[in-house]
Amino acid sequence: MDKPLILLVDDEPINLKTVGEILRQFYRIMIATGGEEALNALEKRVPELILLDIVMPKMDGLTLAKQLKSNPQTAHIPIIFLTSNNDKPSIVKAKSLGIDYLLKPVEPFKLQQRLRHALVHVKVDAFFRLYHDAAALLERFFKQRTPLLLHEIDLWVEQMITFNEAHSQLSAKYFLDHLPQSYNDPTHNVNVAILSLFLGRALHFSHHQLSDLITAALLHDIGKITIDPTILHKEGALDWHEYLLVQKHAQESVTLARQMGIKKSPILEAILHHHEKLDGSGYPSGLAGNQISLFAQVIGVCDVFDALSTQRTFRERYNSYDALMLMLRDMPQQLNIQYIQKLISLLH
Ligand SMILES: [Fe+2]
Repeated sequence: MDKPLILLVDDEPINLKTVGEILRQFYRIMIATGGEEALNALEKRVPELILLDIVMPKMDGLTLAKQLKSNPQTAHIPIIFLTSNNDKPSIVKAKSLGIDYLLKPVEPFKLQQRLRHALVHVKVDAFFRLYHDAAALLERFFKQRTPLLLHEIDLWVEQMITFNEAHSQLSAKYFLDHLPQSYNDPTHNVNVAILSLFLGRALHFSHHQLSDLITAALLHDIGKITIDPTILHKEGALDWHEYLLVQKHAQESVTLARQMGIKKSPILEAILHHHEKLDGSGYPSGLAGNQISLFAQVIGVCDVFDALSTQRTFRERYNSYDALMLMLRDMPQQLNIQYIQKLISLLH
């Protein structure tokens, strides 16, 4: 993977040289000696972060920063100001813009540490923007019954897998610790898709397999839209008739996925069989063991984990550790133990 690209803006050649030397081992550097030159450089290439001197002739760093933050093309790029200790007014203005700063002369360790931190935040923000894109799509579907569009789902799945491949060093635990903790239909589907992505990668699934897996996971419960919500969200035990009605959501999810244009049998089978259990006690077909596809087994584990580790109307959430221990203790005949153990290794 390429080193991250940093734009260094400073009118003093000696500063460009010093900071450039500190960063060159871990980053690619592009330089500009003033605000105008920086704007020109940004039209050609978008860096992952900008290190920006404040006091410069013509356009100063504060003016440039304001301009960049008000432009949708550049607003997302994190900026760190470089300024001298005796320039208190500039520090006050940097703070008022909500922009981080480092004092010159920069200490190499501090600079490296601050850059690493800022770049992790960029990735985490990008991940959660993607997360909320999918949650918004499903939210519209569940609340307003706006049909789900296959090309939007395909695009999201591709973006999420590509993101995860590019930033595989970011831990599953970090993301999962920050996922929504209260259960609702849209976020449950997105959570299961994200969990399945992490688990599928840990199981060395190919890009193509991950794509089918994540699509199935994202759609696995959409059939719940056809089930009477008073039954679906009933507090307390369901009677036998209600339980049979709820079970229909797996088949209904498949019907809706077909209506969207999904034809691939690995995806449709994974959706249909996400409640099958290894001992044959699941539904809708009572399949057992390896009659259940690997995708359905992955989604089955992630589905139970998310249901246990999110807050429900009828009980408190389990923390990740307790949820996984409960699954190991109470469901070894039903869920794939290796997959549960793999999740444990990812989350702890
Ligand atoms: Fe389900």
